Amino acid sequence: MHIDIHEDQLAAVRSLAGSIAEGIRQAAREGRHYVLGLATGASPIGLYEELIRLHRSEGLSFAGVVTFNLDEYYGLPPEDPNSYHEFMRSRFFSQVDLPLDQTHLPGGLVARDQVQHHCDAYEAMIDEAGGIDLQILGIGRTGHIGFNEPPSPKDSRTRLVTLDPVTRIDAAPAFSGLDHVPTEAITMGVSTILRSRRIVLMAWGERKAEIVRKALHDPAGPELPASFLRDHSDVTFLLDQAAASRLEAQT
Ligand code: F6R
Repeated sequence: MHIDIHEDQLAAVRSLAGSIAEGIRQAAREGRHYVLGLATGASPIGLYEELIRLHRSEGLSFAGVVTFNLDEYYGLPPEDPNSYHEFMRSRFFSQVDLPLDQTHLPGGLVARDQVQHHCDAYEAMIDEAGGIDLQILGIGRTGHIGFNEPPSPKDSRTRLVTLDPVTRIDAAPAFSGLDHVPTEAITMGVSTILRSRRIVLMAWGERKAEIVRKALHDPAGPELPASFLRDHSDVTFLLDQAAASRLEAQT
C-alpha cells in the first residue's frame, strides 16, 4: 500500500500520467496491449487532460491500449449527456488515437433479463484481454469504488446495483435535480477491481479527506468497500494535500 501525497492535483496527475505513458510504451515494446481500467466523475478529469496533452505534445499513442470502464448508470442511453459513455467519448476517447472498438463500458440499456449475461460477458472480456494492467479509481463519500456501495462483499463481481442516497445527492447537480438521477447502475465488482495488477485511487480536496481516512484506517469490511483495497499487493492512494489532511500520520 503506497500513499502518494502531492502538493496539488496537477502535480499528482502529471506523475500518474507519466507512469501510464511508460506502461503503454513498455507494453508496445513487448508487442502486447496495455489494458487500462477507467473511471468517470470529477476525480479523473485532470488525468485525462494530461494524457491528451502527452498525446498531442509527445506523440503518446493509445493505438495499443484496451480500456474497460468501471460502471454506467442503468437506464441511460449512451448518447445521454450524463451517461458515462458520453463522458468518456467527449473527455477522452474522441481526443486521442484510441480505436473505439478497443474501449468497453457496461451497457446502460441492457434488458433486465439480460443483465446477468451482460455482466458475466464483461468479466470474460476483461479476462480475454489478459486482465487489467492498471485500474484507475475515484472514491465516493459512501466509501464506494466503482459503484460498489456499502455493503459490498469482497467477492462481488460485475452486477446491477442500487445507488446509495448520498451518491445520488452528489450526482444531482449534474442531472439538474435528484429526481433525474438514476437509481441503479452496472458496476465492476470489488473482486473484479482487485484482480487488476495495479490500482491507483485518486482523491482531491477537503471533501474527500474523511472518507480517505476511513478507507485507510477504519476496520475493513463490506460497509467500507474501499477498505478492501488494503488487501491488494500494488495499490496507491494518490492524494493532494487537502485529501490527505486527516490521515493519522499527519495529525
Ligand atoms: C466513477 C466511479 C465512482 C467515482 C466516485 C467519485 O466511474 O466509479 O466510484 O469515482 O463516485 O466521484 P467524483 O470523482 O466525481 O468525486
